[in-house]
Amino acid sequence: MKAIAYQKFGNTDVLQTVEEPKPVIRAHEVLIKVKAVSINPMDWKIRKGEMKLMSGSTFPRHTGVDFAGVIEDAGPSVTNFKKGDEVFGVVKNNMKDGALAEYVAVPATHVWKKPAALTFAQAASVPIVGAAAVTALEKMGNINTNSQILVNGASGGFGMFLLQLLKQKGASVTAVASPAAVNFAKKWGADAVIDYTKENVLAQQKTYDIVIDLSGRMGYANAKQIMKPKSLFLNPTPQPIEIPTSLFKNLFTGKKHTVILSQPTSKNMVLLLNAISNGLQIEVNKVFPFAQSVEAYRYAESGGIIGKVVVEIN
Ligand SMILES: NC(=O)c1ccc[n+]([C@@H]2O[C@H](COP(=O)([O-])OP(=O)(O)OC[C@H]3O[C@@H](n4cnc5c(N)ncnc54)[C@H](OP(=O)(O)O)[C@@H]3O)[C@@H](O)[C@H]2O)c1
Repeated sequence: MKAIAYQKFGNTDVLQTVEEPKPVIRAHEVLIKVKAVSINPMDWKIRKGEMKLMSGSTFPRHTGVDFAGVIEDAGPSVTNFKKGDEVFGVVKNNMKDGALAEYVAVPATHVWKKPAALTFAQAASVPIVGAAAVTALEKMGNINTNSQILVNGASGGFGMFLLQLLKQKGASVTAVASPAAVNFAKKWGADAVIDYTKENVLAQQKTYDIVIDLSGRMGYANAKQIMKPKSLFLNPTPQPIEIPTSLFKNLFTGKKHTVILSQPTSKNMVLLLNAISNGLQIEVNKVFPFAQSVEAYRYAESGGIIGKVVVEIN
């Protein structure tokens, strides 16, 4: 089968199409004929060697974490899936494995039935950013219509899910986005949108109960300027040193700095599928064929993407 792999850390030019044996499944695993893989910033952060502490440095490496496809085969211990089922899911080890291939083998616990209303491209867009948005929502605790929430970097995959989940909770949300994304942020549920090319969110007078930075550019030190005395900063892109230091610093201040880690569990997928059946929309910005996987990454990495970029495989 064909797969995308790389032999050293680097830019998109290290990505190669390789021939590999079809994966062999174990008793508790399913073999999936991959139809679509969505691109996440973590794919290129790992490929560029920015996450070596967690990913390790062995090669070859594969890429692409979340996917959708059709069950080709199921191991003898698998009772809930059969050949022909349409599913979406995540690879077993998102720091090491890759779904960008004609076939992928994963434990049956890592896939879920694809709703008929979703395309393969939309379903492949759900697990990582959807689960991260659910985790963010959990960390926010008891929010209500009086909670003032700022979502900085609101128009990528993560923001798309988070804005709509917050809307379904009735929260009061200000989004920060590029001019092209303002209408999407409003459609997804933002009550107010700040165009970051016209206004510096840090220079405004308003303060928030919760600030979440999806751009990776704001940082807790800056965010404090627009946080209320007892408020929360949610950080899905922590520097390794920030993980222990945030815990320590939180002991001495009313403001809290909390790290988010996406957990694509069955519980979170059920919650997301519920939100989707209640109207949550998944915007696929652009679909590339498998032969143009490198172009897909170049496009996604260039920024300005509203929603998700997906690679489809025939
Ligand atoms: N911890 C976890 O488990 C986890 C899980 C999923 C994602 N993440 C991380 O969370 C972040 C968001 O994920 P994503 O998939 O939504 O990524 P994304 O699609 O790249 O979204 C990033 C957003 O930030 C915006 N942005 C860039 N510069 C900005 C600025 N100066 N001010 C305000 N917004 C700005 C981008 O808008 P423009 O491109 O239009 O400028 C875009 O909407 C990524 O860093 C990702 O790695 C973490």
